Amino acid sequence: MLELTDDLRIGHPIIDADHQRLIDIINEFNDHSASLNNEKLMHETLKALLSYGREHFAREEKIQRECMYPYHNMHFHEHKALLEQVQDIARTYFIAKTRPLNERSISELNEFLKTWLIGHVKKFDTNLREWVAPSNECLEPDGEQKLFRLPSSDVAALVIDDDATSRTLLVKLLSVMGASVVLEASNAIEGLQLAFSDPVPDIIITDLNMEPMDGFSVVAAVRASQKEYISCIPVIIFSATDDNDLMAKSMAIGATGAFKKPFNPRDLSKFLFHVLKKRPDKS
Ligand SMILES: [Fe+2]
Ligand SMILES: [Fe+2]
Repeated sequence: MLELTDDLRIGHPIIDADHQRLIDIINEFNDHSASLNNEKLMHETLKALLSYGREHFAREEKIQRECMYPYHNMHFHEHKALLEQVQDIARTYFIAKTRPLNERSISELNEFLKTWLIGHVKKFDTNLREWVAPSNECLEPDGEQKLFRLPSSDVAALVIDDDATSRTLLVKLLSVMGASVVLEASNAIEGLQLAFSDPVPDIIITDLNMEPMDGFSVVAAVRASQKEYISCIPVIIFSATDDNDLMAKSMAIGATGAFKKPFNPRDLSKFLFHVLKKRPDKS
């Protein structure tokens, strides 16, 4: 029997309730697999998993986007692969009928279902915990908006943007959030010089469209550094582009996250808080 044990709980009521329902479907299959008609049972279980799985994945993906979870794109592909696995099994037994339905197939399906959901929850969904959990203790009033305060008072940030207005806005936001130093550069070359000098920034926020080097080149240069404490600096891309694939493209070249301009200060402050919370202590 599968159980939603504490190590599998995410701490979000909708996600945990959905996981419980999926576990119930799998357990029902396990309970009845010896007594009912195999074909009907298998068909109904796969149908229920596909239907509830689809609904759950869509809900979870929406929550991930709302929480600014930076890896939601990768997670979406994992969900897609999970649904395809179930569809493949259904196709094998009910459409192509290339394998016989018997006790062995039922026991194989039992084994598969045990890891199908739990494996994904353990490896992927548990990473959502700190993003979906309420973090009210770090809320800090800033005029009408409530911003997240940086997790340490010893944060050096670097802002690279050729647009003075948006650069000033980001510098102000980082200062209000409690950064101890905010370095500024109006182009990528100047920015990289600062990234490779003292104080080494804990976070870099760079505009995408700049001349002669763009924000993607900034990410590439930082990631290529021989010094590990530089190559692992989180880099966040900002862009005024309408490109819907901005996040996917940015993550593919090694960025930590991507935001479109104009950005929501609270969303960005929440994102920075989580990213910096994961950074190892400087001391
Ligand atoms: Fe899930
Ligand atoms: Fe998931």
